[in-house]
Amino acid sequence: MSDLIELDGVEKVFEVRRKTGRLRREKREVRAVDGISFRVPRGEMVGYIGPNGAGKSTTIKMLTGILTPSAGRLRVAGLDPSRERTKLAQRIGVVFGQRTTLWWDLPLYDSYKLAHRMYRIPDARFRENLDRCVELLDLASLLDVPVRQLSLGQRMRGDIAAALLHDPDVLYLDEPTIGLDVISKAKVRQFLRDLNAERATTILLTTHDLTDIEQLCKRVMVIDHGRLMYDGALAGLHEAGESERTLVVDLERELPPVQAEGARVVKVEGPRQWLAFPASASAAPLVAHIAQAYPLVDLSVREPDIEAVIARMYDGRPLY
Ligand SMILES: Nc1ncnc2c1ncn2[C@@H]1O[C@H](COP(=O)(O)OP(=O)(O)OP(=O)(O)O)[C@@H](O)[C@H]1O
Ligand SMILES: [Mg+2]
Repeated sequence: MSDLIELDGVEKVFEVRRKTGRLRREKREVRAVDGISFRVPRGEMVGYIGPNGAGKSTTIKMLTGILTPSAGRLRVAGLDPSRERTKLAQRIGVVFGQRTTLWWDLPLYDSYKLAHRMYRIPDARFRENLDRCVELLDLASLLDVPVRQLSLGQRMRGDIAAALLHDPDVLYLDEPTIGLDVISKAKVRQFLRDLNAERATTILLTTHDLTDIEQLCKRVMVIDHGRLMYDGALAGLHEAGESERTLVVDLERELPPVQAEGARVVKVEGPRQWLAFPASASAAPLVAHIAQAYPLVDLSVREPDIEAVIARMYDGRPLY
């Protein structure tokens, strides 16, 4: 029973009606989530990534109980989210980067007081959690400010605090760093890292910023068209996406593309050429061959870019 999140063959089908004429309407099915199974043990921080429309937010909405699955089995902290939504609310925290849960016209602090009452948080616990969030998320000067006057980064930190005042076991973050500047992103990441380490809060993180994943998650799940394409270590993504490293060579002069076994020239700019080769292969024989056959001045090896790996994966088929 240490798995806090359990999904077995979960599906979500939306029926959308489209107007095709003055009176005609066409019914169409959108399979937003198409048979997903995974488990997340207590204390894990997992990245949930995929292109636009992949089904990430729909999955999170089912995990909070906002949406009911069309098929499959789903449990969070042992509860059925849509049937036991009120009970579950005590155990989970949610942050939707695109939409605030704070009261727009009220000072930030008032939203926290409302959460205090709504979740029936014991006074001492509330104080302690609020103080901690205020300190670590830099909220002291913002508590009296109406939410609508907060900047995006301030509002996001405010939202994260609101999601944590009742000590949830599970935290869902749907794009918590969207639109934030580099410094705000770093602050949010550091906070999440500490939260996960100190409180063992289980975190499911959706993001389009792969740096979030690289800095926070050992495990990553990739979803596309409602299906799980990859579930494993971040490091393994490179292999799964058949990732490539790049050898950049500077030759003495402009030459036709370099011929070398196991590598192909992907770009030429004057005397500089870029050669892609499998990330799993050693660069040594390639370098030796080029040094011997060409007038080599300088070279460097570039590691695979996780973004490129995932892009390649998105237009592929399931990888396991
Ligand atoms: N309420 C709804 N009614 C009809 N279709 C929906 C609804 N919600 C989502 N969809 C569709 O389901 C699919 C998955 O949407 P979802 O919001 O889960 O994607 P996402 O992975 O979160 O994308 P993004 O990265 O853009 O946030 C999309 O095709 C979307 O249009
Ligand atoms: Mg989304």
